[in-house]
Amino acid sequence: MSRQILVTAALPYANGHIHIGHLVEYIQTDIWVRFQKLRGQRCVFVCADDTHGTAIMIRARREGRSEEAVIADMRASHVRDFASFQIEFDNYGSTNSPENRQLCDKIWAAIRKAGLVKTKDVAQLYDPVAGTFLADRFVRGTCPKCEAADQPGDNCSVCGAAYTPADLKTPKSTLSGAVPEIRTAEHLFIELERLHEFLNEWTQDGTHLQTEVANYLKGHFLGEPLRDWDVSRPAPYFGFEICDKPGHYWYVWFDAPIGYMASTLEWCNRHNENLDDWWRSDSKAEIHHFIGKDITYFHTLFWPGMLKSADCNLPRKVHIHGFLTVGGEKMSKSKGTFVMASTFLKHLPSGALRYYYASKLGTGLDDIDMNLDEFVARFNSDLVGKVVNLASRSAGFLAGQTLSHVYPDDGGLFASAAEKGEQIATYYEDCNYNAAMREIMALADKANKFVDDRQPWAIRKDPAKTDELRDVCTITLNLFRQIVTYLAPVLPELVKQTDELLHRPLADWSDSQTPLTGTSVSQFQHLMKRIETKQVESMIEESKEVMATEQGLTQQATAPVTPEPPIVVFHAADQWKDAGDALANEALAGECTIDDFVKIDLRVARVIEANHVQGANKLLQLTLSLGGGETRNVFAGIKAAYNPEDLVGRLVICVANLKPRQMKFGLSQGMVCASGSGGTEVFLLAPDTGSVPGQRVH
Ligand code: MSP
Ligand code: ZN
Repeated sequence: MSRQILVTAALPYANGHIHIGHLVEYIQTDIWVRFQKLRGQRCVFVCADDTHGTAIMIRARREGRSEEAVIADMRASHVRDFASFQIEFDNYGSTNSPENRQLCDKIWAAIRKAGLVKTKDVAQLYDPVAGTFLADRFVRGTCPKCEAADQPGDNCSVCGAAYTPADLKTPKSTLSGAVPEIRTAEHLFIELERLHEFLNEWTQDGTHLQTEVANYLKGHFLGEPLRDWDVSRPAPYFGFEICDKPGHYWYVWFDAPIGYMASTLEWCNRHNENLDDWWRSDSKAEIHHFIGKDITYFHTLFWPGMLKSADCNLPRKVHIHGFLTVGGEKMSKSKGTFVMASTFLKHLPSGALRYYYASKLGTGLDDIDMNLDEFVARFNSDLVGKVVNLASRSAGFLAGQTLSHVYPDDGGLFASAAEKGEQIATYYEDCNYNAAMREIMALADKANKFVDDRQPWAIRKDPAKTDELRDVCTITLNLFRQIVTYLAPVLPELVKQTDELLHRPLADWSDSQTPLTGTSVSQFQHLMKRIETKQVESMIEESKEVMATEQGLTQQATAPVTPEPPIVVFHAADQWKDAGDALANEALAGECTIDDFVKIDLRVARVIEANHVQGANKLLQLTLSLGGGETRNVFAGIKAAYNPEDLVGRLVICVANLKPRQMKFGLSQGMVCASGSGGTEVFLLAPDTGSVPGQRVH
């Protein structure tokens, strides 16, 4: 009976491109998945982009685009990068999908029902100009202790003092330069402490987590009451609005792991499968999460807690890896070691990174150090020098011919290497890839020794020895193919090349157990080229440039969106020479009082429907949503200026308390605000990003 396995890698954030640090994880996971598939298990690999949160919202504003446009572009880039490293997902979703929203609602309802949700007031810094709450990293100011200027919101880089952003002297928002205010808003919390006993058991039972992870949780969190987890954020926030708390959104880390389920659901829908068979508590499926150590807490406490409360299938195992360092140091933008996946590929083959990571990855959480000299040497000596060399030293002599019809006597080489298969499989299963690679290279050494001893190039000179030549090459090519089978999870491209060379697809682990005989051999093509040090050097150089441009962009972007007030005034006079026609054409109305003004209830509304009106040549019919199911039917004289399909989804300002008026075409329950002289000269008013339907305009 094959196992039913669901594998996930962490969902990469949609606010950045994939780099070689990320690839440690995605390559590690892809190897594990390919291994399971090769062993005949039913294995499904899902992932998605993690799209919600403040960072995306701010990037979208900065770029003057919608969040949806930003995440669509990034998704395309991620998908491209993954494919070019042969990372093959069965489904790649997005947390901003209808499937995810639906599952969030469902899990939220279950957590509510379990009585785990409570409400508390939270005071947060708020940027009144950018109109958003500020995470600590978006506030800078003077250190309250040593008075060093321009320090971050959490601790001082000069004297090391730790504080909260509210303690800073002269705090400033890095988004707008404005002085932040303290605003209090209600937040929803999950009482994790109520799940303490369950989490103790689940994390400490010795099967779900690496021992060091279990011990870390015990030492750092489980020894004391677990803190309530803040799972909501007030508007503005890019995310899903909480179904039973309008104007509040699930914090990105609430909906992100549910994205694992949503991506599975997309896969199920395509394959006529049932989500419950994978994710319900009574399912037989094994769920395996692969993550980096920085997100341990979310995956080993919050997530199992959420799943338990919603009666879902708990992870069989959370596999946690360390971080990538390059030359013993953190990846560095200025040193050019912060290498983007796409930059790597311009200079080096993807297989080199896959193999290098495999040769470094073990079962622990230690950081993985990439030493660039070792990276070059290992690829050249192991893959080119040992593995591919077997084929290049034998295939040419049999090109256009066939392998021997009976597998010749090889002194037990193939059989003893076949026996190693189970040991190698166990190493893969345990994510102990470096041990697997060592074992496989030891086999390659033995095979090369066989070639050295038998010297096919010498046999070839004797026309009487064609059978012997065929036998020696048959053995060598079989030892090669056996090694390629063992390496198949790591090097899918080499598998394809081997299939072509020997005309027999290599599709199953058992291909390592029986030699091939009698099949034809293709013309030999070079399978892999040596890497030169200068390729690595030019990759590093290009990374420095890429990062310099990228940093320039971010610096520009974090500079105040609205310059300091005096500068604005100074520039305004001579920079924008607006003509006076509009004002002259329509004189200002007589004075009104604030009381007059507040009688008119202006609201932000979303156009949820827009249609042409039969028999009306100036009007469009709009259905406006004020949120929470409240709608207004409005007839607006904007037909000459707007296509209905361009209006659906956008935010407008409407007069929400205008006395309804019966028109020939139906009841009009309000007005949308627009400027302009009419006809094609009509310009709808739109609120800035961040505002939500139903908000009043003051
Ligand atoms: N979006 C969250 C994960 C949500 S999962 C429900 C996130 N995204 S991330 O893009 O920052 O990171 C994705 C994965 O890559 C994480 O598991 C992270 O640990 C891993 N890595 C990111 N940088 C890394 C290195 N430099 N080295 C090794 N792994 C790294 O976290
Ligand atoms: Zn200080």
